[in-house]
Amino acid sequence: MKMADKLFTLIIYTTQYRLGGSQFPVVAETLADEKRRENADCEVITRAVESKHDVLGALAEIKEQGGKINEFIFVGHSGMYGPMFGTVKFPEQFSPYEWEQMDIPFAEGGSASFYCCRSARWFAPFFARTQNVPAHGFFWYTTFSKDRNKFVSAGTRTDAPLYTIGCKGRKSHGYAGALKKRLGMMPAEKIKRFEPKPPDGDTSYDHVAELYDAVFEDIRVRRDEWQWLERHLPDEKVRILDIGCGNGALLNALEPRIASGVGVDESGPMIEQARKRNAAFKNLEFKKIDGPQLPFADGEFDVVISMMSFRYLDWDPLLAEIKRVTKPGGKFLIVDMVTVPVAFGEYPKLLADKVKTITRRRANAKYEAALKRLVADPAWQKMVEYNPIRSEHEMKWYLESRFPGQKAEILNIGWNSRILAFDSGPIERGVEAKLTYP
Ligand SMILES: C[S@@+](CC[C@H](N)C(=O)[O-])C[C@H]1O[C@@H](n2cnc3c(N)ncnc32)[C@H](O)[C@@H]1O
Repeated sequence: MKMADKLFTLIIYTTQYRLGGSQFPVVAETLADEKRRENADCEVITRAVESKHDVLGALAEIKEQGGKINEFIFVGHSGMYGPMFGTVKFPEQFSPYEWEQMDIPFAEGGSASFYCCRSARWFAPFFARTQNVPAHGFFWYTTFSKDRNKFVSAGTRTDAPLYTIGCKGRKSHGYAGALKKRLGMMPAEKIKRFEPKPPDGDTSYDHVAELYDAVFEDIRVRRDEWQWLERHLPDEKVRILDIGCGNGALLNALEPRIASGVGVDESGPMIEQARKRNAAFKNLEFKKIDGPQLPFADGEFDVVISMMSFRYLDWDPLLAEIKRVTKPGGKFLIVDMVTVPVAFGEYPKLLADKVKTITRRRANAKYEAALKRLVADPAWQKMVEYNPIRSEHEMKWYLESRFPGQKAEILNIGWNSRILAFDSGPIERGVEAKLTYP
């Protein structure tokens, strides 16, 4: 650090995302007062951010002054892959790629803290290793509290001091958790610290490509997903792009309906499996990609598909690319798994879906055995740890905001997860978030 560098604590907070819009500023000011007392050499600034661009604007302000950030703090809502800005109608979230590209002028010894739900599960460790600073976050859902050490309800009050604390509650521990909170017996979670260190294993599908291929040699074992896709494809033969194509089994099964097909995936071994599986088809090709840029010309495809992979992808940057490479009037079809506990009213569908799934598995012993081998494999478990799935509301908000008027459908329900399907409709109707990368 140069002698002339000015040090800042930057506290950003969302104002209108969902609930708590009037309380986040108070939490931010409570934190700001603490930080001013802790370190008089550091100028503390708080900024309301309602979009990704506001975040970049707050960073630019500091850079323009030649300043460095001693502490970067976020207060607000989040999804599994990090802070959420904007509104429910148009949520914004930096994708992993956008965070990686972001130039945050950290001072030596700088750190980051994310006062938002579940930030310790994926985002804080990710941020620590990509920005190379210690990062802090909460494992549990966060809530407002009048006491920093235990949950004391603040209701909708906006008087300081007010804290965002992590604590077990109804979303994690059901009604017993809610009762304990109300009785003042729920301690605040101590914010967790993550050091910048590389992952302790392979985070990709590379080491599970063969096991995965053995499970999904015929993609039609995913019967509900397959039938939905078949129904939503145009009748004529299409030029199709499959993003996160894995072992290429989907294009393989769709081949009779394809004029030309390209599968892309970030995993080289998966691409190898896909090439082997489809060696006989001259109209199919497979390419490894690295990042959200798609190596294709404008309007090259009639249909883009993402099956069981959208959860991992760089949503805004990739969607901009999808719109570019799809012909006007073409469509984007997504089928993916999301997490959400089953609701009471959904029990009849849960039961019917369970019976259906168990019957299908019993009728296909080879698939069942291969699936058991895959999920028991340590490389699979490590990959899943580094690639959590998103919650249902996150994915629905995102897709339904980007393609107004289109609704996600539920194909199959489990206790804590379910399969969603989404048809973008004619693609030129979509709305784009401004991108933050060049
Ligand atoms: C669950 S598999 C789904 C494969 C295939 N679509 C299927 O339905 O069987 C997820 C795939 O997404 C790929 N993937 C993960 N992150 C990716 C990224 N950022 N870009 C491209 N592919 C990615 C993985 O390598 C993996 O092959």
